[in-house]
Amino acid sequence: MNIILTKNYEELCEIAAERVVDIIKSKPNAVLGLPTGSTPLGLYNELIKKYRENEVSFEEISTFNLDEYEGLDKNNPNSYYRFMFDNFFKNIDINGKNINILNGISDNSDFECDEFESKIKRVGGIDLIILGLGVNGHIGFNEPSNFFSGNTFRVKLHKETIVANSRFFNSTDEVPKYALTMGVKTIMQCKKVMVLVSGTSKAEAIKKAIEGEITPQLPASILQLHKDVTIILDSDASHLLNNKL
Ligand code: GLP
Repeated sequence: MNIILTKNYEELCEIAAERVVDIIKSKPNAVLGLPTGSTPLGLYNELIKKYRENEVSFEEISTFNLDEYEGLDKNNPNSYYRFMFDNFFKNIDINGKNINILNGISDNSDFECDEFESKIKRVGGIDLIILGLGVNGHIGFNEPSNFFSGNTFRVKLHKETIVANSRFFNSTDEVPKYALTMGVKTIMQCKKVMVLVSGTSKAEAIKKAIEGEITPQLPASILQLHKDVTIILDSDASHLLNNKL
């Protein structure tokens, strides 16, 4: 695992954006896996800035989002579809045809998930997946479990995830109880993985993920087995690590 310790969130986002731009420059039709949440917002802002300064074009890239809430349609302000358009896609030159986000209101979630996997295969796999981290160590919406998940699937969200994500909703009751998410196998098949971790609330989870045993109870720990992982942390997130690099 390549671990990059940054001073603060701003530096974390700058370094992450430089890496994304480097990948697109070396492969203009790169396939990216993208996260939602508060952590990647600064990265998306940096990328928009670089696009406006003509440093990068997203015209040929394809994207696959990690996950989507079940039951929220595209126009719902809390859907990840809306999040991606408002915070990133509408501000760059990406071709709408190349954007792939799981449909949270599909009436056949198994088919939706299988189709999503097929599309990933058709474009030759994901070159770089960017991940955030849940406070319980989840990646995408792969919650702590007794086994690591496989391909993209429908998942029941854990109470702590519902509570953590309720800050975006009017109440905890409004947070969907299920979601569709890339599975752990889907994530592990991506050629490169970049994890962004910011804030003290993630310090324990990232310590366990990097230094602890590999266990499905801490889904991010599986990344220890991936051959090309970069974890970018700010000082708040890294303060519990044994070995401060
Ligand atoms: C959600 C998403 C995850 C994300 C996590 C952390 O649960 N499904 O993909 O990593 O939130 O979000 P934040 O960056 O807001 O802490």
